[in-house]
Amino acid sequence: TNEIIWPEDRADPEAVRLLKNIGTLFICPDDGGQEYVKPRRNAALLWKGDVILWAGSEGELPGNRDLPEPDESFDAEGRVVIPGLIDCHTHLAFGGWRPDEFELRSLGKSYEEIAAAGGGILSTVSATRDTSEQDLIRKSAGLLEEMVRLGVTTIECKSGYGLTLEDELKQLRVYRSLKNSFPIRMMSTFLGAHAIPPEYRDKRGKYVRLVTEEMIPAVTEAGLAEFCDVFVDAPAFTIEEGEVILEAGKKAGLIPKVHADQLTANGGAELAAKVGAVSADHLECVSDRGITSIREAGTVAVSLPLATWYLRKEPLPARKLMEAGVPVAVSTDFNPGSAPSFHLPMAMHLACTLQYMSPAEVLKGATIYAARALGVNNVTGSVEPGKKADFVELDTESVNHWLYHFRPDAAARVWSEGACLVT
Ligand code: NIG
Ligand code: FE
Repeated sequence: TNEIIWPEDRADPEAVRLLKNIGTLFICPDDGGQEYVKPRRNAALLWKGDVILWAGSEGELPGNRDLPEPDESFDAEGRVVIPGLIDCHTHLAFGGWRPDEFELRSLGKSYEEIAAAGGGILSTVSATRDTSEQDLIRKSAGLLEEMVRLGVTTIECKSGYGLTLEDELKQLRVYRSLKNSFPIRMMSTFLGAHAIPPEYRDKRGKYVRLVTEEMIPAVTEAGLAEFCDVFVDAPAFTIEEGEVILEAGKKAGLIPKVHADQLTANGGAELAAKVGAVSADHLECVSDRGITSIREAGTVAVSLPLATWYLRKEPLPARKLMEAGVPVAVSTDFNPGSAPSFHLPMAMHLACTLQYMSPAEVLKGATIYAARALGVNNVTGSVEPGKKADFVELDTESVNHWLYHFRPDAAARVWSEGACLVT
């Protein structure tokens, strides 16, 4: 199997490196619309330390006086190169798994029925409370390593399986530990409003106050999250509760995100727009009004095709969103219930088949538009001068071929901030 090279093994940050003989480079600029991936045939890429200096046709490189001579050069052997993949919505750290629920759903039970019978999110909450911080770190690190092998160089991770002050902080500290030891970009989201914990079933207002008055201040005090998310849907929080929580998060410096319109059309997208959320995620049941509101607010729509697939829901109206001018990101939603696979290329494949998106549109969705959903589109998500040197060499001839043939892992080499992590 491929080997991950850790930061201490990284080469000189001042070194100039060249990747040549790229079959096709997919630049994926932030502008130009969802399908504009800007392919360049016979390309090369030059970077210094962790920053890209130049990307273009290899023929333009010799004698270019504005560029330094490379200290080291690498051969892409005609492979495809894409920006490092960005998984902008995951629930990475959790105790246990829920394979029995998968069996029940295979036999026709619905996600909602299973949750109402005491399974679902709350069963993972009790398993996560019962798992030590060290064990959560070990388990998540193993999963994360496999994600990196697939080409993921940026990941967002949510809390939401603790639902007590201590257990939410524990989950977020797991992400901080991983961030300190993994050579990729990691961002954390506080999702204390994922479900009403059993001990607050009859005192919802009290739990909302625990979230706003105790959890949010503790999370921001410890600098443990960039974002605040809420699950607003029938089995979880109301729109009003969601708004109170996201506003409290905003005051404390957390950027809002919303689990919106997943199971019912209850105005989650409208809430995302109202609070100025950076993304509205799921959207399987989004209304036309919801689409208009997020377009006007500049909110990114994050599609989660694995969750749609595992729960056998109708997919979100991706074409309608794109036609309205809403950027559509693609992510895994990796979690032990609705989306128990962390395979981002698999999610991308499903975005083509279920959501009627072209491979090029999907590629933008898992790179630069996912970067927008995390507010890091000026740093990563495209292969352009000034951006971090985050990119993946794929053993394939085109993005169409990659997502159509669909091999378990087509990533030949994964580069993060200029260093080769996986060879
Ligand atoms: O994004 N929708 C709410 N939360 C998760 C599911 C979590 C779970 O089933 O454990 C989701 O699909
Ligand atoms: Fe989710």
